[in-house]
Amino acid sequence: MNKKIKIGLFGFGCVGQGLYRVLSQAQHIQAEIVKIGVKDLSKPRTLPAHLFTGNAAEILDDPSVDVVVELISDAEAAYDIVTTSLKRGKHVVTANKKMVAAHLPELVALQEEYGASLLYEASSCGSIPIIRTLEEYYDNELLHEVKGIFNGSSNFILSKIFNENLSYATALKQAQGLGFAEADPTLDIGGYDSRSKLAIIAAHAFGIFVHPEEIFCYGIDNLKQQDIDFAKENNFKIRLVARAQKRAAGSINLSVIPQFVKSTDKFYSVENEYNAVLVEAAFSDQQAFIGKGAGGNPTGSAVLSDISALTYDYRYEYKKKSKAAGLSYSTDQLLEVYIRTNSALPELGLVPGWESSHFNGGSYIKGKILLSRLLNIKQALQQAGAFVATFSEAEAINAESKTADTKTVVII
Ligand code: HSE
Repeated sequence: MNKKIKIGLFGFGCVGQGLYRVLSQAQHIQAEIVKIGVKDLSKPRTLPAHLFTGNAAEILDDPSVDVVVELISDAEAAYDIVTTSLKRGKHVVTANKKMVAAHLPELVALQEEYGASLLYEASSCGSIPIIRTLEEYYDNELLHEVKGIFNGSSNFILSKIFNENLSYATALKQAQGLGFAEADPTLDIGGYDSRSKLAIIAAHAFGIFVHPEEIFCYGIDNLKQQDIDFAKENNFKIRLVARAQKRAAGSINLSVIPQFVKSTDKFYSVENEYNAVLVEAAFSDQQAFIGKGAGGNPTGSAVLSDISALTYDYRYEYKKKSKAAGLSYSTDQLLEVYIRTNSALPELGLVPGWESSHFNGGSYIKGKILLSRLLNIKQALQQAGAFVATFSEAEAINAESKTADTKTVVII
């Protein structure tokens, strides 16, 4: 594309306005927003009224619009906009992780069939350029693991709780006020937003496509003072960690679980809306990427980078998809966990082999459990108001250790 790009933008919330600001200050990009599609035309806007439309067709049917930038929060409406645009041969940039993660195989197929490019760097970890890094830099590296703090809002809440003794509710309100949280903040604090990002990152890291609903995620919504006290007494902080890990036998484990982190852990000092991604590979060893994961300007900057990439006809090639033949998704992973409930432990039907500790009005246990088991009992854990966190590196399950270890797995 060697001409000035004409952009049809959908959404003018925190990220849409961020993009507008970033784009108007960027010096070397030939791109212009010609129309902005919004849900509510009557809302007061900072830009001239003629730029806005409440009719999506005005953008989608306009042959002069080369690129559709989709920045709305409604994942279903976003899916319609993105698929329609691709089918009309329009390139698309989106930040909608929920939509991309839930439909990735179809979105890849549409790009192949219609030749248009779909870029979504802003969907995962805000301003950290992780998708293109995994696509291009780690094209041939032997990746072992990609893990990180993928949600700015929950990290902001945890930081405020641990560093400023703010209440959970106040911290969440602040995250919402700053435009970090999703329209439905359950997606942030329940771990679902991190899970969508993990599904996208796993596709670009390992070439495996896993529907987010198949991935275990546990959020910070049940975090209580007892858990904070436990963490502080043991010199830990808590971080919500998403992780994709490759096992020797070619299986990939995926999870999103809060983690107790020590001061020596790279995630310990990642605060507020910052995200972090740690990549571990055979030759480059460990690399850490840290940057703002939420907010209008950082996310707008990632969208700008995608728009700029379209000026030189960049597209994801999904090369690892064809190399992933020997890889399979697996929940066969043993994790060291802490589970705290406010109901008495025996009611959860625990089998021996775990350390447990009781406090006034509740108890917690520490022990090992299979990820597959956690997936099965997630609903029961949530109903019990349990807070779940891992301690350290998950351990690989090899044939010898598996039989011995599973004897100590809790049955709830
Ligand atoms: N709600 C998201 C977060 C926005 O807090 O990380 C960025 O994806």
